[in-house]
Amino acid sequence: MIITIDGPAGTGKSTVARALAERLGFQFLDTGALYRAVAWACLEGEISLDDVKTIVDKTRQMQFRWEEGRLWIDEQEVTEKIRTADVTQGASQVAVIPEVREALNEVQRQIADTRDIVTEGRDQGTVVFPHATCKFYLNASAEERARRRYLELTNQGEEAEFETILEQIKERDDRDATREIAPLKPAPDAILVDSTNLKPDRVLDLLEKTAQEKQAEAK
Ligand code: DC
Repeated sequence: MIITIDGPAGTGKSTVARALAERLGFQFLDTGALYRAVAWACLEGEISLDDVKTIVDKTRQMQFRWEEGRLWIDEQEVTEKIRTADVTQGASQVAVIPEVREALNEVQRQIADTRDIVTEGRDQGTVVFPHATCKFYLNASAEERARRRYLELTNQGEEAEFETILEQIKERDDRDATREIAPLKPAPDAILVDSTNLKPDRVLDLLEKTAQEKQAEAK
């Protein structure tokens, strides 16, 4: 069974997807990590993010291994390395390249093949797994998402400015939602969940209950 969770950055999607998978005894796939890995490989290899042909060739050659929430590229573990601000910006740039998306869609389908999985991204219910048993679209206001990110950074002792974070979030939302290929939008049959005023545990309970109902219906 495939459960998809799509939505913009900062909605708590990853945390919820991981926890939901754990509760249900499913695997979990963070597809943003794959886009991040491509951007990371470009930055490492000094490939310009404007050099589409080289980026596409590189993506097709990369060997991805995803296990228990950790990612390896060509046998090198990159799980933490792909979380920097440069990689975050780069990922949203490589994500607009159709050939990169096609190659990564294939990787995602291979990872999900024959597994019970909760997969999380932007286009899981719309493009990659249109026949998924259960689809969610998680959202929250840009201000609330910026507030959560701001708290996360300052709690880690990092310097952060709320207005800058809010601006970056809006910029990234805009790029993800207006791109021509696989823009960020809910699948017609997705269940919409707004987490602006909900605690993470409430979101999780809601998703778990719905997923169990869908699972029972599908039997
Ligand atoms: O969820 P994230 O921040 O790790 O995603 C990184 C970038 O990859 C983000 O700009 C959106 C893009 N992405 C995408 O286009 N499609 C996906 N399925 C997942 C992520």
